[in-house]
Amino acid sequence: MAPMARAGGKAILLGEHAVVYGIPALVVGLNRGVEAVARRPRNGMRSLRIGDMSPVSPDDDSILGKAFGALLEACSLDAPVVLEATSALPIGAGVGSSAALGVACARALAETFALPTSPELEQQRALAWERIFHGNPSGIDTAAAALGGCLFYTRGAPPEPLRLRRGFSVVLAFSGQSSDTKKMVDGIAKLREQKRALFEKQLDSIRSLVMNARLALEAGDLVGLGKLMDLNQMILSAWMLSTQEIEELCAIARDAGALGAKLTGAGGGGCVVALCDGSPKVILEAWERAGYQGFASPVGASLPDPFP
Ligand code: MEV
Repeated sequence: MAPMARAGGKAILLGEHAVVYGIPALVVGLNRGVEAVARRPRNGMRSLRIGDMSPVSPDDDSILGKAFGALLEACSLDAPVVLEATSALPIGAGVGSSAALGVACARALAETFALPTSPELEQQRALAWERIFHGNPSGIDTAAAALGGCLFYTRGAPPEPLRLRRGFSVVLAFSGQSSDTKKMVDGIAKLREQKRALFEKQLDSIRSLVMNARLALEAGDLVGLGKLMDLNQMILSAWMLSTQEIEELCAIARDAGALGAKLTGAGGGGCVVALCDGSPKVILEAWERAGYQGFASPVGASLPDPFP
């Protein structure tokens, strides 16, 4: 039996979109993700199947076929292979399903074909896959899928795992509309061209929100972190990335006791992430009453809490 490879999804706490322009961002790995397995077939077949979708080959014109081809090339693999993956992450929801697929598939290939591997190689290989879907990915999603935990991420620099003073939960709900990362990233690039000076000021504001949020995470100040997330949401709304459903989800979460709430990922749909100190049940139930489905994911402390 070929071994099962896994990779998790992600939730960006602060800094999406700005991270494409070199501003740092904070991201956490989720406890749900993707599983993949690679087999060496007896025939010369090369195929990838995700869930119950039709299989694709690297010579296909489909976007998935091209991503599969890019991944095999990044792995320098020209042997026959049958790759199968299943995902527990909603697609187009801003929770990193395509990066998790890329990392899980890269891991499965490395296991089955005894390829040299490391977290850096996994990220490079998954980034070749991600480029097909997203054009200009910052690499934050692949870093979170490969490393998990809580990361301070700056494009082009090694991701920094943060030492958290206190654990917390992120609670996520799907707005009901899927989000197209490439379209949203292209939209922000146009906005940047049109309003360069204002855009640079907004990037500076996001940088300072992220730096303060890092300090808050390291000090265990979850109330402060939540407020910084709310402020980031205001800039993302000004960039027209929010929707009525996202605003409603954020308001419900805050009323139900969330310390902060914002869209996460590309926006224009997708998921909201809320910060929760304690049980996420009240927030999940409040969303459910309004017709939204959510889930929670714990983020563990890596330092002892001085005020338990
Ligand atoms: C997508 O999860 C996050 C974006 O910042 C794009 C990227 O960083 O590649 C919107």
